[in-house]
Amino acid sequence: MKLRIFLINILTFVSVFSECECYNILVIFGHPGKSHYDVFKPLFQELGERGHNITILSHVSTKGDIKNGRDVLISNEAMMHILDVNWFTGSRLQQYMEANLIAYLGDMTCEPGLQSKELQNFLKEDNQFDVILVEFFNSNCFYGIINKFKAPFIGLSSCSMMAWHSQWFGSPDNPSYIPSIYMAHLPPMTFLERVENTLVHLAHKLWYTIFMEKPGSKLSKQYIGFEPADPYNASLYLVNTHYSLHGVKPLVPGIVEVGGIHVATKEPKKLPQDIERWTNESTSGLIYFSLGSLLKGHTFPDDKRQIFNKAFSKLPQRVLWKWETTMKDKPNNVMISKWTPQFDILCHPNTILFISHGGLLGTTEAVHCGVPVLVMPQFGDQKLNAAMLQKQGSAVIIQLQTITEESLAEALTKALSPEIRKKAKELSERFRDRIVSPLQTAVYWVEYVAKYNGAKHIRSAAVDMPFYQYFLLDVIAFLGFLVLASTFIIYKSFRFILGKIFSRKGKVKTS
Ligand SMILES: *[C@@H]1O[C@H](CO)[C@@H](O)[C@H](O)[C@H]1NC(C)=O
Ligand SMILES: *[C@@H]1O[C@H](CO)[C@@H](O)[C@H](O)[C@H]1NC(C)=O
Ligand SMILES: *[C@@H]1O[C@H](CO)[C@@H](O)[C@H](O)[C@H]1NC(C)=O
Repeated sequence: MKLRIFLINILTFVSVFSECECYNILVIFGHPGKSHYDVFKPLFQELGERGHNITILSHVSTKGDIKNGRDVLISNEAMMHILDVNWFTGSRLQQYMEANLIAYLGDMTCEPGLQSKELQNFLKEDNQFDVILVEFFNSNCFYGIINKFKAPFIGLSSCSMMAWHSQWFGSPDNPSYIPSIYMAHLPPMTFLERVENTLVHLAHKLWYTIFMEKPGSKLSKQYIGFEPADPYNASLYLVNTHYSLHGVKPLVPGIVEVGGIHVATKEPKKLPQDIERWTNESTSGLIYFSLGSLLKGHTFPDDKRQIFNKAFSKLPQRVLWKWETTMKDKPNNVMISKWTPQFDILCHPNTILFISHGGLLGTTEAVHCGVPVLVMPQFGDQKLNAAMLQKQGSAVIIQLQTITEESLAEALTKALSPEIRKKAKELSERFRDRIVSPLQTAVYWVEYVAKYNGAKHIRSAAVDMPFYQYFLLDVIAFLGFLVLASTFIIYKSFRFILGKIFSRKGKVKTS
């Protein structure tokens, strides 16, 4: 009897699990920046764990660490490890031209990716997908794959939304108070800031159409044989931001903020022994210095390195500097290391400052671990991330291009103060306080879109409206006409009546 109950229990358990609604999921990351992929890797791992098949078309090998995963590697070269600190001047002009820089990156990467043998062989296979996750970044050259498989699709963004993204979902993108990703003016904006923010916002939408969408469409047709899917038809957009850090803007239900997705459920791991010893022994605190994987130490200007080393030598704290080559003039309290597990270092209790370029991955990790940041933004969304952090009181911004010993010493003093550390801890608490973790949120929405076959019911009506209707231009014109017409009629009637009265008075007088 007991055995029977036991067997029945086992059977129900098994049947519950085998009834899982499992989907075939395709992921497309055409842009080779590894950090973009890394933001969403935990999502792919979790989807795999839940029994979905997941095919990942990208530049990053999953090395078998994604269950039920399959790689379609579109290049082996890490193309993005080539940016040079010396390119970036931090000027206004550079900010205006940011959309141009990412269009250029698109140009560089679309064609080699589309031509790759792995991709072309994959396209010849007979596959079917229930849902497609695709990065929304600098080009649509890979979106033809979506149309080939005719599946509902979801956009992913590892950084803040670009100027041209909101309209795809009918979400308001009013530049009077929503900062353009490349301008970094935070609200409330002055009159001139609003002028600049508006112009850049409009210009970047135009840049997208001319320099990314049009060339991408051509490549998509040429190499995939399909027009790119229309992003206006996307079911959902998962964005790596959160209002507790990035500020508030209205979002339609189809745009879901999952900021912190790559760290929220992560526990810091044990550090490599040499780094652990160095960090453990930093009893006055550890400063972690890394410019991310895009900017390499050996292109770091000599004079700037000397300035940093001089400033570090006067500090009681210890420094751990991610540096790929040797460094002769480093002081005793500086350790260099080629490979550094950033998240684990930032979450070590001795770490009290992060010196960073303001990439969103590192920024999010610092916010999560409650560590203040000394930011030296270089390009892209980094200026905006830095400004957001500064507004929350947990960062000091400094320009690498114009840095001096004095300015660095001053910035370090500010960034090492107890007040800023307190602010960073408070921000961390706000950022981590969610109903459900961003990872669970993302999993829920991916399965939701697959389950409801594109979930068209969460699409905003604004997406399908013509420009003049959305901005009420026709209604304003009509009401304007009514006001003018009635003013005219009232004016004419008054004149007529007054005319009558006065002409009668006149008659009375003369008679
Ligand atoms: C996932 O892949 C396996 C092995 O290729 C296959 O047997 C299974 O049917 C796939 N699942 C779905 C939902 O298509
Ligand atoms: C977008 O979706 C609509 C409605 O499902 C469909 O009629 C239209 O063809 C789609 N557009 C593109 C470019 O796929
Ligand atoms: C560092 O400190 C931790 C916690 O006190 C300890 O478990 C670990 O063994 C220490 N590691 C080294 C290399 O000293």
